[in-house]
Amino acid sequence: MPMRYPESHLLYRNLARTYPLIVRAEGCWLEDSEGRRYLDGCGGAFVASLGHGVGEIGDAVAAQTRQVDYVSGLTFTNEAAETLARELARLSPGDLKHFFFLSSGSDAIEAALKLARQYWMELGRPDKRLIIALEPSYHGNTLLALSLGARQRYKTYFQPWLVDVPRLPAPYSYRCPCRGEREDCPRCSGAGLARLIEELGPENVAAFIGEPVGGSSTGAAVPRDSYWRTVREICDRYQVLWVADEVLVGAGRTGTWSALEPYGAVPDLAVMGKGISGGYAPLAVVAVPRRIADVLAAGSSAVLHAQTFVHAPSICAAGIATIEYLRRHDLLARCREMGGRMHRKLAALRELPGVGDIRGRGLLAGIEFVKDRETRAPFPREQRFAERITAAAEQAGLVVWPNSGHADGVNGDLVMLAPPFVVSDGELDQIVDRLRIALETVPSSLAP
Ligand SMILES: Cc1ncc(COP(=O)(O)O)c(C=O)c1O
Repeated sequence: MPMRYPESHLLYRNLARTYPLIVRAEGCWLEDSEGRRYLDGCGGAFVASLGHGVGEIGDAVAAQTRQVDYVSGLTFTNEAAETLARELARLSPGDLKHFFFLSSGSDAIEAALKLARQYWMELGRPDKRLIIALEPSYHGNTLLALSLGARQRYKTYFQPWLVDVPRLPAPYSYRCPCRGEREDCPRCSGAGLARLIEELGPENVAAFIGEPVGGSSTGAAVPRDSYWRTVREICDRYQVLWVADEVLVGAGRTGTWSALEPYGAVPDLAVMGKGISGGYAPLAVVAVPRRIADVLAAGSSAVLHAQTFVHAPSICAAGIATIEYLRRHDLLARCREMGGRMHRKLAALRELPGVGDIRGRGLLAGIEFVKDRETRAPFPREQRFAERITAAAEQAGLVVWPNSGHADGVNGDLVMLAPPFVVSDGELDQIVDRLRIALETVPSSLAP
């Protein structure tokens, strides 16, 4: 039976919505208690990369809990955490060879930033406290992570508890005045970061955080090829730690383990979550190089962040099984192949009314909607275009992820696609067909 507040005892995120009750999940498909089937076009919240219902991942978690269910990471280590760290050391680029496991992207973002701050404190540089973040951006919902993100509507009630974060315009060429065409554009090239660091005083800046490829905040905007090498060079020049938030785009989503691989640049700290355990357990990780960890070891000889489920065996077992599954089924190659097909098929929607841009990489796509394709003027927020498209898609049996506000902080509508890597060609066709149905329903019903 569909459920809603207050008849249910669950406190839902949306207290006005009736929630379908999902009772079965397999491959790219979900089925609710009424027998309705949904094509999971966005892997839930960009999580279900292996597809649903892969019994062996659940079996691996169960086997781990039978052998060692839980030990505190403050007192003991365990085989699952050690093995997962070894596996990740093989997969991670450059010198990112040490790993701190947590249970959510927000936790891991907070831990990464605390590590950056601790690093500067251990080195006797207490003024290095500012964190530069992009706009638009999203980094999570705990208070520091919320401060870092640029989604004003999430912050309004909590402003007194948040810290000030200097902002750099995100590499989002569709919304840049140069439309991505100027070689020397400070926003599209990344060069603007140097000016901002100079303004703030490099001695005050601890870190810069950004998503290698945009998540829902910019609708999968892909920075130009040189962007992250430019950031690397600027961060080195001013002694600023670069933190890569790969929570959404990492673990294969854009076709490579790290979304930074095509850029040939290695950050100082990297965070992954979501797809890293395929949704079979809540796992996130901070990757740290020795040159940072050694400073902590020589100083307070501790990581000044602790939570109950740090390095917990069950979540690490899900991570190991996920990596094994990705490797055995060659799913990163499949993500690249099916991603290419998805983007070619989506191109057919470009001319539909309301579609402004379609972009992304691998099995990640953002479809941005505009009232006027020439001027790129967004729909007024009151029309809730993204939400209406999402509802119409759900009606047509397709789950997509909506976002709003990216055009100017308030207006702007897009939906995201991020199907499981096992998606078939026929399922991609169904995703495109169902999205087309949603698009054809909504614009015609909008008030002029
Ligand atoms: C880029 C990015 N960073 C961090 C987070 C926070 O992750 P979590 O929701 O697991 O706390 C998210 C979640 O959507 C995200 O997209």
